[in-house]
Amino acid sequence: MKRSKKSNKTICELRGQLLGWYDSHARDIPWRVRKGQVPDPYHVWLSEIMCQQTTVQAVKPYYEKFLSRWPSVQTLAAAPQEDVMAAWAGLGYYARARNLHKCAQIVANERGGVFPSTQNELKKLPGIGDYTGAAIAAIAFNQPATVVDGNVERVMARFFAVQEPLPAVKPKLKALAARFYEDFTDRPGDLAQGFMDLGAGICIPKTPRCNLCPLQADCQGHVQGIAAKLPHKTKTKARPQKYGYIYWITNDQEQVLFHRRPEKGLLGGMLGLPTTDWREDKNTLNHPEYIETPKPLNIHVHHTFTHFDLELSLYESAQVANTALKGRELGWRSPSEAGEKLPSVFKKAYKLLIS
Ligand code: ADE
Repeated sequence: MKRSKKSNKTICELRGQLLGWYDSHARDIPWRVRKGQVPDPYHVWLSEIMCQQTTVQAVKPYYEKFLSRWPSVQTLAAAPQEDVMAAWAGLGYYARARNLHKCAQIVANERGGVFPSTQNELKKLPGIGDYTGAAIAAIAFNQPATVVDGNVERVMARFFAVQEPLPAVKPKLKALAARFYEDFTDRPGDLAQGFMDLGAGICIPKTPRCNLCPLQADCQGHVQGIAAKLPHKTKTKARPQKYGYIYWITNDQEQVLFHRRPEKGLLGGMLGLPTTDWREDKNTLNHPEYIETPKPLNIHVHHTFTHFDLELSLYESAQVANTALKGRELGWRSPSEAGEKLPSVFKKAYKLLIS
């Protein structure tokens, strides 16, 4: 029987401790089933796609909304892409929504509504990568796939007192996690979710709550008094600051001009307000020629993206030549209806303007 390095317990015993803790402390999350119930792969897939880079708390209302609107993979596949993108608005990382829809269409139309059950087969579908493939295989199909997200990396770095920094150390952390999953066909989904819950609620960044942890006695990070400092991270460059102008353009029917962003690129395919491109040198920004007399409102919207910070300066105008709008993916919409469909950066501007 394998033993955890430096601890006298076997991996099997440690796993048992974690699962015992999970049985009494698992978070109540809408896509989880009770012990003994069979999970629905559609529910598991939807939740795992939504949870990438996003907290469970933020995902919950979107998950509920999607399930009540599209209760099966067939209904989601049949929805217009625009509706799916609009329902995703605010959750971020919009390529996920486009891939979600594509994936639903493949599963519904080419696979009779049945998701594949192994990590390798799952990974062939749009939007399913290493992590999501493993999570769906383990949770929906009880496959012993190694599920490693940021939370699990932190738990492993601390438990094994791994000193090398992220991101280079990721493969090593994954190999350490694999020891817990290898050949474990009993409850791999619960094991994965147990590690996730431990990372999200106990083994948290900066201030781990070691006194509540089921693995405390065997955690090398805790024993050595260095848990809070782990995992180390290689310093990343500061995010660049970018600038742009954003426009609130109205017509005499109380409509506002909205812009459908190109499929490729940031916020791809999402509805937005018209903006200039976003640049590091604000002195090079120019108003688009179709806006005739933009008036500055002296309101600025700030938003942080993964790779840069953005400051958008708001302008308004009631003068735009309708003929100039052709072919630009611009259209007049009622602001209250379109406002619901905006990604966060545009929603911030929208809220300032309608308040
Ligand atoms: N994060 C991603 N998937 C999760 C799940 N199934 N449970 C809790 N947190 C998660």
